[in-house]
Amino acid sequence: MVIIERYAAEKHREPIRRLLEKIGWAAQYVDAGPLTLDTLDAQPLNARIYIAEQDDELAGWIAIEFRNWNRLAQIQGLAVDPSLHRQGIATQLVRQAEQFAQERGARGVYVDTPVSNQRGRKFYEAAGYKQDYVMTAYYEEGLDGVTYVKFFQNSTKNQLGNPGYTCIE
Ligand SMILES: CC(C)(COP(=O)(O)OP(=O)(O)OC[C@H]1O[C@@H](n2cnc3c(N)ncnc32)[C@H](O)[C@@H]1OP(=O)(O)O)[C@@H](O)C(=O)NCCC(=O)NCCS
Repeated sequence: MVIIERYAAEKHREPIRRLLEKIGWAAQYVDAGPLTLDTLDAQPLNARIYIAEQDDELAGWIAIEFRNWNRLAQIQGLAVDPSLHRQGIATQLVRQAEQFAQERGARGVYVDTPVSNQRGRKFYEAAGYKQDYVMTAYYEEGLDGVTYVKFFQNSTKNQLGNPGYTCIE
């Protein structure tokens, strides 16, 4: 398994759509996934998409966006092919995303997921994220969103000269 930094819309858009369909996401989220990635890909300074590949096939992906105003980064999507779950792929993708956030000088990372996504919630808890708040009907009527957050501990200066942070485990 390799993780590459470069999202190539022409190469990855369709495999990402298929992966989201395989996972069983509703059509509107399957459609939104690649659109979000295209938008993030256009802002390389503050966003990054990491692609996990196995045998040249898409194994998973993560997208992260850093916001300068509050120095927090948001995971904008994370998925791993169901045939490859529980092999540590998401853990590696999140690690890469957190490293990107730290390099930008982020104070921490947060992520929203449906309250019903037990698998995703267990994963984020295992990755050291703490449940923060639940927002009613965040996704749609009757589907609340839950936000998980991990703040970093202050450490050295980053590449931009901002204070850098290391993860609180
Ligand atoms: C959530 C998801 C990304 C996890 O990917 P993964 O590559 O299987 O995760 P990892 O193998 O790195 O799991 C690391 C740890 O998280 C926890 N975890 C992951 N999946 C879990 C599950 N289904 N049930 C309970 N714990 C789970 C475990 O502690 C696991 O360690 P272990 O396997 O040694 O017990 C994957 O299930 C997925 O793509 N789900 C659909 C999309 C989604 O929910 N995305 C995240 C929310 S937006």
